[in-house]
Amino acid sequence: NPSNDSSTVINSPPPSNLTQDDLKRIAAYKAVEFVESGMVIGLGTGSTAKHAVDRISELLREGKLRDIIGIPTSTTTHEQAVSLGIPLSDLDSHPIVDLSIDGADEVDPSLNLVKGRGGSLLREKMIEGASKKFVVIVDESKLVKYIGGSRLAVPVEVVPFCCDFTRGKLEELFREAGCTAKLRMKSGGETAAVTDNGNYVVDLYLERDMGDLEAASEAILRLPGVVEHGMFLGIATTLIVAGKSGVTVRDR
Ligand code: 5RP
Repeated sequence: NPSNDSSTVINSPPPSNLTQDDLKRIAAYKAVEFVESGMVIGLGTGSTAKHAVDRISELLREGKLRDIIGIPTSTTTHEQAVSLGIPLSDLDSHPIVDLSIDGADEVDPSLNLVKGRGGSLLREKMIEGASKKFVVIVDESKLVKYIGGSRLAVPVEVVPFCCDFTRGKLEELFREAGCTAKLRMKSGGETAAVTDNGNYVVDLYLERDMGDLEAASEAILRLPGVVEHGMFLGIATTLIVAGKSGVTVRDR
């Protein structure tokens, strides 16, 4: 069983010819070692979490796991789990989740995350925030010094009503950090991308980090029109990183 303390476990290095997808699968399989029969499991979204869902269904088929109930964090994961025959429920019926497993777009040394570049941040935050344990699975490319100031965007889910007004307010909020706020478009670029909840996403591109993350979070959530943002502060309990030097498991 994986360690429950805050120490780092380093396994032997994997072969150097592994692809990024191999590393994602290695991290995901390691996380599934935390799953026990009878648990309610939050099923994450994205190319890394997909491997965890596949692995859970494999162990169910082999009879090595029993009586699992999955709570999917997106319609995509719902469809994957249904196709694999994993029994499903939701937070209304199971408000306490034993364990969630999901990927992330960025992870800082305190295990604060950016999530939602796949657009599922609201359901992910609801389900992972309701979890006793939330295991984040990433390949090493996702590790950053500061979230939300380094490379890509911080997603914010907004209501469609006057979304350009909300976009402008968000940009203004982080003007000092060199923010450009862009409405996320569907591939092809003609119409806005729509989340599973019927909302839009505004991506915040920042030239510098946003400073106090808790203050930034509160300021975003205070704006009328904002539903949720993709900074997950103090929610992750465990981080699994697969990299060229091996797999590390770390508790917050
Ligand atoms: C979706 C997410 C994903 O977990 C995140 O984008 C990471 O995805 P991937 O594992 O494909 O890199 O937050 O909303």
